[in-house]
Amino acid sequence: MLKEYRIVLRNSGLIDPENIDEFIAADGYRALQKALKSEPIGIYEEIIDSGLRGRGGAGFPTGTKEKAAAVICSDCTRYVICNADEGEPGTFKDRVIMETDPHTLIEGIAIAAYSIGAHKGFIYIRGEYGLATRRVQLAIEQAYDRGFLGKNILGSGFDFDLEIRRGAGSYLCGEELTLIESVEGKRGHPRIKPPYPAERGLWGAPTLINNVETLANFPAIILNGAKWYRSIGTEKSPGTKIFTISGDVNKPGFYEFPMGVTLKELIYDVANGVKDGKPFGAALIGGAAGTFASEQHMDVPMDYDKLREVGLTLGSGAVIVMDDTRDLNQVMLSILRFFKHESCGKCIPCRVGTTQLYNLLNENLTQGNFDPAKVYPELIRQAGMIAKTSLCPLGQSPILPLKSLWEHILVSQIANQ
Ligand SMILES: Cc1cc2nc3c(=O)[nH]c(=O)nc-3n(C[C@H](O)[C@H](O)[C@H](O)COP(=O)(O)O)c2cc1C
Ligand code: SF4
Repeated sequence: MLKEYRIVLRNSGLIDPENIDEFIAADGYRALQKALKSEPIGIYEEIIDSGLRGRGGAGFPTGTKEKAAAVICSDCTRYVICNADEGEPGTFKDRVIMETDPHTLIEGIAIAAYSIGAHKGFIYIRGEYGLATRRVQLAIEQAYDRGFLGKNILGSGFDFDLEIRRGAGSYLCGEELTLIESVEGKRGHPRIKPPYPAERGLWGAPTLINNVETLANFPAIILNGAKWYRSIGTEKSPGTKIFTISGDVNKPGFYEFPMGVTLKELIYDVANGVKDGKPFGAALIGGAAGTFASEQHMDVPMDYDKLREVGLTLGSGAVIVMDDTRDLNQVMLSILRFFKHESCGKCIPCRVGTTQLYNLLNENLTQGNFDPAKVYPELIRQAGMIAKTSLCPLGQSPILPLKSLWEHILVSQIANQ
């Protein structure tokens, strides 16, 4: 079996997540100590040099965002937010990090806070994540007790407070500006971008918001250096990625690999192949807001750019595998039901459009004589209009699974009939 390369999950399963001494014995909080002895600029420059890209889905360069939040003003209040909402279907990597090694995340957040000059931070945790919330809360209390959080951290003169906020089950609240509204205690509706959070975020202040996996990479990068990090993964997407593999495979689970691993390796070497020896049908990569891959994509190195070149998205790293007996139209219908349900209703194109997409596919599927060659081009046309006219990225999402399912899979199925 292909060997995992664990950076973020290096302690996972090896230490007791509720025992800070075990974390410290595994080099825990050494990166924070090192960071506090450097200038903040040195920290975000190191992250820029490492090439780390946001693991929440979009793959935006992390250090660039940090720098933007750090330099925007000289003496203003700033915030750090860790996005642990993890609402993308098929994704459970952040949960694993929080449940198995919460201190790595706290250490990463404290380093990020120091680099931008933030003295207050929040971890926004998905409401359903009970164990993760309890473990992160315990770890925060332990970190305060040992002087890794709070006033004058490790005698450095740097103060940083961290607390948890819990989500209430809205997928859209994972979107960064909606999340910020939610932390402010408001209804989960998005704000118009720009301004970006690094300019005007929480309570109008510059805010760095990053995903759990992104921030959990910070300690290893600060300890081992940008050059080391760049030696792993691919040129444009350095480092590792945690893939969560589910669906029709023999060994579903979470696996951390260098960027550039292929779908074939993940399905056949890592997850022990398709269940019951059935032929592969399709894989949905990146969740509901992701894309359908077919057999032809098995050897594409999985990183942000290589996947984009072939019309796929890495997104959150979720890989949902379907054998060839699965009815992909029903899968698509459940994705459209998801978007219809999660649309916040603030803008008309998405509020009306996501319902219309669902109804169009549902009615055609239930009326008999379903003709994908007629229905999909119309669904794609409508989803394209919704994408162009919606207020936030949720309305821009249904086009992704629709177009990829049609172009990568259904067109060739029809041609082979
Ligand atoms: C509808 C929607 C839901 C999202 N949900 C999440 C989420 O649950 N977790 C996450 O980290 N990012 C999520 N994002 C992406 C965030 O908006 C943002 O890009 C991310 O938190 C930035 O962190 P990163 O640069 O470390 O990836 C979502 C985006 C959209 C449009
Ligand atoms: S695109 Fe959808 S989710 Fe986003 S603001 Fe409009 S209605 Fe709400």
